[in-house]
Amino acid sequence: MFMQGKRGLIIGVANNKSIAYGIAEAIKAQGGEFALTFLNDQLEKRVRPIAEEFGCKFVYKLDVGNPDEIVAVKEAIARDFGKIDFVVHAVAYAPKEALDGRFVDTTKEAFNIALQTSVFSLIEVVQKLLPVLEKNASILTLTYLGAVAVVPHYNVMGVAKAALEASVRYLAADLGPQGIRVNAISAGPIRTLAASGIGDFKMIMKWNEANAPLRNNVTIEQVGNAAAYLISDLASGVTGEIHYVDAGYNITGMGAVEEIDGKAVLVWDRIQNS
Ligand SMILES: NC(=O)c1ccc[n+]([C@@H]2O[C@H](COP(=O)([O-])OP(=O)(O)OC[C@H]3O[C@@H](n4cnc5c(N)ncnc54)[C@H](O)[C@@H]3O)[C@@H](O)[C@H]2O)c1
Repeated sequence: MFMQGKRGLIIGVANNKSIAYGIAEAIKAQGGEFALTFLNDQLEKRVRPIAEEFGCKFVYKLDVGNPDEIVAVKEAIARDFGKIDFVVHAVAYAPKEALDGRFVDTTKEAFNIALQTSVFSLIEVVQKLLPVLEKNASILTLTYLGAVAVVPHYNVMGVAKAALEASVRYLAADLGPQGIRVNAISAGPIRTLAASGIGDFKMIMKWNEANAPLRNNVTIEQVGNAAAYLISDLASGVTGEIHYVDAGYNITGMGAVEEIDGKAVLVWDRIQNS
């Protein structure tokens, strides 16, 4: 149980399909404890039963766009835990209309919302929680391949994830001298509430499944297990890292091909035609 004695905060559980739920499950299985947060009243109804399922004693209201709420969470952590060993930031948002059609049509408003909610929130959460972080604490966020390559409809969220990945490196450099590590997992596509806002998401999943070396889509359990490792002392030598958990999709340079009757056939075509 490599998370025994570790206590932290997990931001981003919306329901039991959330990547943050898979991370919570893996941390719990390894003996870790944590507080959860909920964004609004509607989500509170979903998050409270999940907190009970995991035996979490503490659940806090947190809209990362509201600095006062981040400070209130810091104070609640100081009261309930003293200090914590890890923070999971599994938060992203962009207006739905920005996640369809052409990137060139992105509005300034959508850009600002996406970058503030999905990127600045990590910086501000770390800033404000620093006084309650243990020496050797670990911070983890979630990113996606759209940061480094074009994925249809991911648009402004790709720009946000690129900024998030750069922020991971700058935070890791700033906080490394005090032993605090900052990493990101770049997860393959998973059907969640946030993902349902992305245009043609079903096709993205099918494409990934057909072309990833492992020929499947990853699960929140797989992301959760990798997250538990990165958060734990097992990864004490790892910081500023973008760790792919995507069935290997990111290493591919062309569509997967099979030989059928002496002809090269795209796996995607075979799946489409079967
Ligand atoms: N699902 C995927 O395919 C995929 C792939 C790679 C990375 N990710 C990333 O994983 C992270 C978690 O997303 P998910 O897919 O589990 O979806 P999800 O909808 O389950 O989780 C997103 C969370 O963000 C929270 N959130 C949004 N705005 C917030 C705000 N202002 N304050 C506080 N919380 C806020 C929501 O309440 C929700 O809990 C995101 O950063 C997402 O970009 C997802």
